[in-house]
Amino acid sequence: MRAVVLVGGFGTRLRPLTLSTPKQMLPVNGVTMLERVIANLGRHGVTEVVLALGYLPQVFQEAYPTGEIAGVKLHYAVESEPLDTGGAIGFAAREAGFTDQTFIALNGDVINDLNVSQLVDQHKTFGGEGTIHLTPVEDPSRFGVVPIDADGRVEAFIEKPPAGEAPTNWINAGTYVLEPSVLDRLPEGQKISLERAVFPDMVAAGQLFAVQQAGYWVDAGTPESYLKVALDLVNGVRSSEPAIAADALIADDASVTNSIVGFGAQVESGAIIDGSMIQSGARIGSGARVVNSIVGPNALIGSGAELLDLTVVGDSFTVEPGTTHFAEKLPAE
Ligand code: GDD
Ligand code: MG
Repeated sequence: MRAVVLVGGFGTRLRPLTLSTPKQMLPVNGVTMLERVIANLGRHGVTEVVLALGYLPQVFQEAYPTGEIAGVKLHYAVESEPLDTGGAIGFAAREAGFTDQTFIALNGDVINDLNVSQLVDQHKTFGGEGTIHLTPVEDPSRFGVVPIDADGRVEAFIEKPPAGEAPTNWINAGTYVLEPSVLDRLPEGQKISLERAVFPDMVAAGQLFAVQQAGYWVDAGTPESYLKVALDLVNGVRSSEPAIAADALIADDASVTNSIVGFGAQVESGAIIDGSMIQSGARIGSGARVVNSIVGPNALIGSGAELLDLTVVGDSFTVEPGTTHFAEKLPAE
């Protein structure tokens, strides 16, 4: 089985972290988001993927010079301008030659344990042009909302409806099984949204099906969800991986709880870190407090500074000693 992985977005909601690193190359407890996504595909029989790249493509190409992740062969397709989700799938599938058999396409920022081969089997049984994985969420308004009938046929595809107007809590979970005929709906070189244009057309043609499958699922595209997906790996919600890198330096009287501390990071005397992610090479000064926040690589947090309530500090940024920050992006946009 072959897959197109969408990784070309700007990661706007995760700025400033994504100013230097594309979203799918951000670490999720020491392993990039992309590696975690591809490892799951590999577990379910995917042998080849094409990365649909646009923003900072060289970061991916340099990170995987062997053209392989977890035994899965990588192709790179670099858009010269953003083609949106539909255009990007068409471009990448053609570039990699994935045009003659059923293929998978997915959002590269979704972390789940989806049984992809089972989804492919269900798609074959439905016999439509496409099958979508659906997951239940509390607030469907930031997702594609997908009501289905008793036979699994999609009744409507409503991308990001106004709050309170979604007809169901089951949303597009971002993994699709598609027939090559879907490529005919994606004119070459044309910018087109899969969710706003292509899927609604497939619904009208009665060609789109969906499978409701609950289970661990997070779209890691916001500071809150990115932090959650990483902490879930260390706090027992999903697994209990080691959270503190072997070479991190943590002062004896510092307190680190429910948090991740990356390679070469330092936490100085009296600092308090709770529910947070400290990325590689960052330094947390003495007496600083970091709660429910993310500190980017090589950032310097001055003594006594406080980072609270989903504050996000970018690559190599310096936070002045003694300052307090609530839900801030540093540097500000
Ligand atoms: N190559 C390329 N080119 N990739 C793109 C482009 C583009 O122009 N635009 C977005 N992407 C990639 C992003 O990098 C991401 O992996 C994926 O496409 C989806 O984009 P997001 O920006 O993360 O979309 P979203 O989270 O708001 O909504 C999407 O995902 C939800 C589930 O996580 C939609 O598919 C929703 O319907 C869905 O519910
Ligand atoms: Mg997303």
